Amino acid sequence: MIQRPRGTRDFLPDEMERRRHYESLLRETAQLYGFREVATPMFENTELFTTKSGPNIVDEIYSFQDKGGREISLRPELTAPVMRMFVNELSNAPRPLKLFYFGQCFRYERPQSGRYREFFQFGAEIIGAPTAETDAEAIALAEAMIKRLGLKNYVLRVGHIGILREKLSGLGVPQEGMAELLQKLDKKLYDEARSLMEAYDVSSEGINAVFEFTALSGGKDLLSRIEGEAGAYLRELFSILELYGVEAVQLDLGTVRGLDYYTGVVFEVEAPSLGAEKQVCGGGSYTLSELLGGESVFSTGFAIGFDRILLALEKEGANFSPQGLDAYVLATANETRPDSFRIVTMLRKAGLRADVDLMRRKLSKAMKQAAASRARYAVIVGARDLAENAGTVREMSSGEQRRVSLDELVSYLSA
Ligand code: HAM
Repeated sequence: MIQRPRGTRDFLPDEMERRRHYESLLRETAQLYGFREVATPMFENTELFTTKSGPNIVDEIYSFQDKGGREISLRPELTAPVMRMFVNELSNAPRPLKLFYFGQCFRYERPQSGRYREFFQFGAEIIGAPTAETDAEAIALAEAMIKRLGLKNYVLRVGHIGILREKLSGLGVPQEGMAELLQKLDKKLYDEARSLMEAYDVSSEGINAVFEFTALSGGKDLLSRIEGEAGAYLRELFSILELYGVEAVQLDLGTVRGLDYYTGVVFEVEAPSLGAEKQVCGGGSYTLSELLGGESVFSTGFAIGFDRILLALEKEGANFSPQGLDAYVLATANETRPDSFRIVTMLRKAGLRADVDLMRRKLSKAMKQAAASRARYAVIVGARDLAENAGTVREMSSGEQRRVSLDELVSYLSA
């Protein structure tokens, strides 16, 4: 037997139906907020991701040389591809552009619950409006999506990576050392972060000030303590969030994202029920387009880890029952089999989910199959009924049976 690669999954029909259901709720919500869907290739030229994703991602990239010797990578995320698409195809489009996407990403990580090598992101990007309301809109959409899925227990934290970057560079951390240091802070590897800062001659008071700063988290009352432009920006953002009805939001200046392209507001959503891999959504504002050869535009966005948020819903006991068939059509004997195909075709044409016995089973076995396919009704096609242009309809839940004229079958089953 050939096994699937580590960190990948198969999705069986029940699971796939559940996934599609939740995906459609996300899609619906993005559309309610005026976002439009885009899709980009599953693989890109490797340099797209090495340009500005940061060491977290670069270490985890699935790369290979194609037959033409080109360096190719499976996408580890979709922000860089969407910005590449923006620079290539959309730079003259009216702004702001509000785009969303759903698709798989690939990261060579150590697989565990909630962490896969192939996983799905549902994300959104707003391109071209350098205002606090743009960040607010992205955060509001992320929260609306999470609520629409029905997740109850989550924590939404907002910070500002710009303040931290400025602080670090003020303390003497050089630009080229920033990504690695932020990576350590993101992963809360404080000893390693300390050694890095020591190597850049940051004083121990400076180092402690950095740790204290990243520990600053709490309610909106903390906002008044943040100085300068970034403080004013955050205060404006929080007041717009309130107008958007996003209430349960915390300020957390320790929100350091794993990706290197963020420059301003950053935010994360955690589902505490998930344990170690609890981050179900991450995002913020970033500059990428000029690195990809475009003009400088303000962009902001986020991605929901679709697999993780589904795990969180499961943990909360959200149940989803797959939709069964409307009807399962079965013949009582070989002579009426042709009529069963005629009848199932009539039902399908009328938009009913209908299936028919393909195994030439005896009535009792075929009835078992009808139950297994969770059909609401079985339509039993027998010679005596057919002589009167009718069939016997059995309601599967109650076992009640009645003869229904074939002319009325569709409306009977649809009722
Ligand atoms: P990210 O935080 O790297 O951000 O990923 C977003 C979400 O994807 C995470 O919060 C997590 O739920 C999920 N995720 C990440 N890695 C895995 C994995 N190995 N298995 C399962 N789920 C995973 C980004 O990718 C940015 N592009 C988000 C963004 C969009 N920022 C601005 N616009």
